[in-house]
Amino acid sequence: MTKLSIRDLDLTDKRVLIRVDFNVPLKDGIITDDTRIRETLPTIEYALRHKAKVILCSHLGRPKGKPVAAMSLRPLVDHLRTMLDHVLGDDENVAFSPDCIGEVASEMAANLESGQPLLLENLRFHPEEEANDPAFSKKLASLCDIYVNDAFGSAHRAHASTEGITHFVKQSAAGLLMEKELTYLGKALTEPDKPFVAIIGGAKVSDKIGVIDNLLNDGPAKADAIIIGGGMAYTFLNAQGQATGKSLVESDKIDVAKATLAKAKEKGVRFLLPVDHVLADKFAPNAKTQLFSGHGAFPDDLMALDIGPKSISLFEDEIADARTIIWNGPMGVFEMPAFARGTNEIAAAVARNRDATTIVGGGDSVAAIQQSGVASRITHISTGGGASLEFLEGKTLPGVAALTNK
Ligand code: 3PG
Repeated sequence: MTKLSIRDLDLTDKRVLIRVDFNVPLKDGIITDDTRIRETLPTIEYALRHKAKVILCSHLGRPKGKPVAAMSLRPLVDHLRTMLDHVLGDDENVAFSPDCIGEVASEMAANLESGQPLLLENLRFHPEEEANDPAFSKKLASLCDIYVNDAFGSAHRAHASTEGITHFVKQSAAGLLMEKELTYLGKALTEPDKPFVAIIGGAKVSDKIGVIDNLLNDGPAKADAIIIGGGMAYTFLNAQGQATGKSLVESDKIDVAKATLAKAKEKGVRFLLPVDHVLADKFAPNAKTQLFSGHGAFPDDLMALDIGPKSISLFEDEIADARTIIWNGPMGVFEMPAFARGTNEIAAAVARNRDATTIVGGGDSVAAIQQSGVASRITHISTGGGASLEFLEGKTLPGVAALTNK
């Protein structure tokens, strides 16, 4: 890590503003998946144990610059209090400021005791947050002595709380989650244990082509093998001349797919596409299905919604030999049980390889890992959706670039 870490700083009695990514799914005020909160607890606990006055700030959802009751962070207070039970005294609470800037927030931040946490209301209730407005950044900065960014999931956004603020504080450090994410994802891209296998799935080539390109980068390719599944596989199969019926195909990406296949061949990267498919007569859980194998044309009126058993075993063999595995994107429409087998079997295969460093990113693949019950056997589950994708594309994340160098 070339960036300053929270571990490099003396936090005692300092007001430490920690940008977290508490953009968690809420249903009727109840958190339905608290992974992102749990993953940032080590940083919050570290700061509290080191007697910092901890001020937490985050966005939640996309309220478009105005207060939206359903996107308030207030429902997180009790949850956070329970999670921090072992570091807080019996009568200590997580304080909540109903605005992230202004008099109330300033007063609450100023009156915090060492070792106490304060949560600020949703940053995106102010349009200046996403506009990366300097005056707003300055107001946020005025709440603290030290700024820590632990919001890896938002590091691809150049917003006031992730980038702008760093221009108004003396020191900006990475939190422990941010460090962990950068360490695992960074090592996979720069010095992976070999063989390095990337499993890329999801609906569209256009969403993942940046990652595939980066893995086939100029110079020696980073990946030894790239496994393609999900809807995007059918654009590649089309590019190879296979008629794929009603399957999803991005016709404007056929040339890109052809160029990618050629580049993989030139670099000696094994580029694995599905060799059999679960075909359906409609995009629905109760669709009529049939297995289709080989390189012939699919029936005109059917679409592929999952990979078949031969593809699963082809992919499993590649996965079993890998020493670094990155997985982003499902192999089929895994939300529908009839088309979840491919994704679940690949999740199990990744989890079975205990000799590899396994990294899973992206909302759908993380959900698949959790659905398959193998999450505890994955080396690193990234909390970043867009952020991990942009990192794997080789892009600089503004929230990371802005941190103070060591
Ligand atoms: C995410 O969920 O990927 C992050 O919290 C960023 O959210 P955003 O896409 O609304 O900026």
